[in-house]
Amino acid sequence: MNPTFPKTYGEQERKSGVNIAVFCSGNGTNLQAIIDSQKKGYIKADIKLVISDTPDCYALTRAKDAGIKIFVVERKNFKTKKDFEIEILEALKKENISLIALAGYMRMLSKSFISAYENKIMNIHPALLPSFKGAHGIKDAFEYGVKITGATVHFVTLGMDAGPIILQSSVKVTEDDTEETLAEAIHEEEHKIYPRAIQLFIEGKLKIEGRKVRILE
Ligand code: GAR
Repeated sequence: MNPTFPKTYGEQERKSGVNIAVFCSGNGTNLQAIIDSQKKGYIKADIKLVISDTPDCYALTRAKDAGIKIFVVERKNFKTKKDFEIEILEALKKENISLIALAGYMRMLSKSFISAYENKIMNIHPALLPSFKGAHGIKDAFEYGVKITGATVHFVTLGMDAGPIILQSSVKVTEDDTEETLAEAIHEEEHKIYPRAIQLFIEGKLKIEGRKVRILE
């Protein structure tokens, strides 16, 4: 793979506008929050593409309903992960994508893919990282018995759920909570902080300094 994407998000890109691709595997409520924020004018960028590895996921219906181009790419149709990711990179290149938002995309990206979009891939996670990484953040936190959990938006690096944290929002776990009510409360917070993190990126207000993300207000 020999991608030729710019290494840093510079002034030039900001002037010409940010094109976003959202990657989904499931329901797509975060995608919907991003679409709604864009429609309301809060996110000032084009959502050019929704990419999914799961052909029947509801996120794709949401994208179609919003008139956004979709690209379905299934891992099983490619011999190697590299071939699979090259197909995705080609689609991103065609649409001149400058920010990738992972929104319930349940697949790890390779080192080459991440370096092609270094510091331009965000993810939302349903727990207060670095606690409860992985695919079951809500369940794991609930079963552990934490009194506070929440949601995190972070930049994607090679380690799972390990990149610099952009925004977090906390949620109290009450005596009456079930895993389902807790999930609802966490999703509500996700839908607030993800659009906000994306808009901060678009405005060039996120400065990564080692592990930390400074927000330039
Ligand atoms: C979200 O809660 C997101 O935080 C989680 O998947 C859900 C997708 O919901 N992601 C992870 O657990 C990643 N480790 P959605 O499809 O309704 O946006």
